[in-house]
Amino acid sequence: MSKLVIDGKHKMEGEIYVQGSKNAVLPILAAAILSDGKNVIYNCPKLRDVDMTIEVLKNLGCRVKREKNSLEVDSYGIHSYTIPEELMRQMRSSIIFLGAIISKFGKAEISMPGGCEIGNRPIDLHLKSLRQLGVEITESHGFIHCHAENLQPAYIHLDFPSVGATENIMLAACMIDGRTTIQNAAREPEIADLQRFLNRMGAKISGAGGDTIVIDGVHKLYGVEHTIIPDRIVAATYLACAAVTGGTVVLKNADSSHMGAMMNVLKEVGCKVHADKSKIILLPAKKLTAVGTLKTMPYPGFPTDIQSPFMALMTQCDGTSIFVENIFENRFQHIEELVRMGADIKVDGRVAVVIGKSELTGAKVVARELRGGASLVVAALAAEGITEIENVKYIDRGYESIERVLSLCGIDIKRKE
Ligand code: UD1
Repeated sequence: MSKLVIDGKHKMEGEIYVQGSKNAVLPILAAAILSDGKNVIYNCPKLRDVDMTIEVLKNLGCRVKREKNSLEVDSYGIHSYTIPEELMRQMRSSIIFLGAIISKFGKAEISMPGGCEIGNRPIDLHLKSLRQLGVEITESHGFIHCHAENLQPAYIHLDFPSVGATENIMLAACMIDGRTTIQNAAREPEIADLQRFLNRMGAKISGAGGDTIVIDGVHKLYGVEHTIIPDRIVAATYLACAAVTGGTVVLKNADSSHMGAMMNVLKEVGCKVHADKSKIILLPAKKLTAVGTLKTMPYPGFPTDIQSPFMALMTQCDGTSIFVENIFENRFQHIEELVRMGADIKVDGRVAVVIGKSELTGAKVVARELRGGASLVVAALAAEGITEIENVKYIDRGYESIERVLSLCGIDIKRKE
């Protein structure tokens, strides 16, 4: 098993080319099965989650070729409407294929993500919306069976602006005759990127980025070329890394217009942040100062995905910060590890109180999930001495060669097998 070994207290200085967005590329790869031709998708990060998605595509019968960060997806030979259990278990977000497969075949069979039961659970919004589009859904032997004789357009109000459910509806509805409307849609930039990709293929979708998305069904979609947007969470993570080391970084291929809530926090802690359309420069704070309360919210609010990396940043700020995690209830697993490194953090349910500044010291810690793992990297850069982070596989789900990116900026970081 790989681990990252980081010797802290080195100043981070340099330029980083921000990778393509993981959360944009996954639904766009699922959308690629809808065309009759080849799609070429540029700026695809090399990540475990992208590799798993390619496995799903191949399993369905697509041919996929990677050349550096470009993926060519040829869905001509697609023949299967099933995603097997081993693939669903490895990546919950494979659920995003459901809408695309139903659109393509009028039926789909996928194993339950994580083996859970249908009911009052995290894919209920996906299934409720698909039912509104005329999909009959049954459950047996750990599989979800979907069948649609006649898909029909619908007016769908999402009870919560779920990112995945919004994407699944767009994928399922873009070739249904008539107009489908999603109200209370998720507004994330990755959804707008999916709209751009689908429209380039010939779909007629408008409104993504706002809370109402209108989908007018078309009969055919064509293969196209598309470049994935930059990853706003990765960009903000590297800004947090630079901030805790008192360094200066320049992010290239970054889109600050997707990062408002995160940029505000960085400015409030005292960093100077300059941004133009594709570049962000972060200059160090004279003194890092806590910002009060940060509540995770759907976009354009403060993202749940940056909560843990920014919590590591707050351990280096003078004063008290309060984090309220409103999106996922189990996203505080990194706190135990940060405390091992010397952080002063108390948790009560969905609220974490961070008292800074703490003098962190290197320790052996374990990444338990992707963003929590990234928060340990941020903490390690600020810590005195060596930190060993086990379970790098989680960090690899979302950060392309994190050790290469950081060592090019002067950080002492190595991967050990
Ligand atoms: C996506 C992102 C993930 C990010 C999250 C929130 C991808 C691949 N992943 O995940 O990185 O953290 O958005 O910004 O894009 N929910 C239900 N029922 C449902 C669906 C969701 O109750 O049917 C709940 C979830 O349990 C969670 C909340 O809604 O509490 C948000 O989930 P959602 O927006 O769907 O996140 P994902 O699409 O899974």
